[in-house]
Amino acid sequence: MKVKTTQRLLKSCLIFIAMGGISTAALASDYEDWRKTATQEQKVDNMVKVLPGASVVMLQMGERYKNLYWAAKKGKWEFAEYQMEEMDDLINTLIITRPKRAKTAKIFMESAFSQFGPAIEAKNHSQFRAAFEHMRQQCMACHEANDHAFIVLPKKPPASNSPVL
Ligand code: HEC
Repeated sequence: MKVKTTQRLLKSCLIFIAMGGISTAALASDYEDWRKTATQEQKVDNMVKVLPGASVVMLQMGERYKNLYWAAKKGKWEFAEYQMEEMDDLINTLIITRPKRAKTAKIFMESAFSQFGPAIEAKNHSQFRAAFEHMRQQCMACHEANDHAFIVLPKKPPASNSPVL
């Protein structure tokens, strides 16, 4: 490298550092970890702020919706049951994290999953389809009640992304 070029590079580096540019040392150590230094109250405040809301919970619901459908379709009944239980857990999480949605979520929980038990136990496809359709209607009723009627779930969901299926 020519001496002039090297000098120019060195100069721009010095300017960068003088302007408070990023140095690796600063990146690695120049921060405060609120998880360790904050007061209990601040910690709780932060945790409440990052509780997963409906949009996060629903992305998971969408995935499990596909998994549930395709698990049954492929005769993986235990996996189907597991998906349903996880969906049940997700709605219970939502009841805690988003009080605004709690009332409609509780209505959903009254019957949305009620028909799956017998269908899965009997490994009966047509019974399962009826249970799935019943749930689908309940999902969409909740979307409607929460001003998201435009989120319409397909009767036959697209292929699952799960490597298990
Ligand atoms: C408590 C009411 C409620 C229930 C029950 C419910 N949803 Fe939702 N869902 C919502 C709300 C509210 C949104 C919009 C999320 C937001 O913007 O905060 C949503 C959004 C979605 C989305 C779009 C997610 C995205 O951002 O791309 C999907 C997919 C979804 N729901 C699937 C389902 C499925 C499947 C069920 C039933 C198995 C279901 N939902 C049951 C309230 C509900």
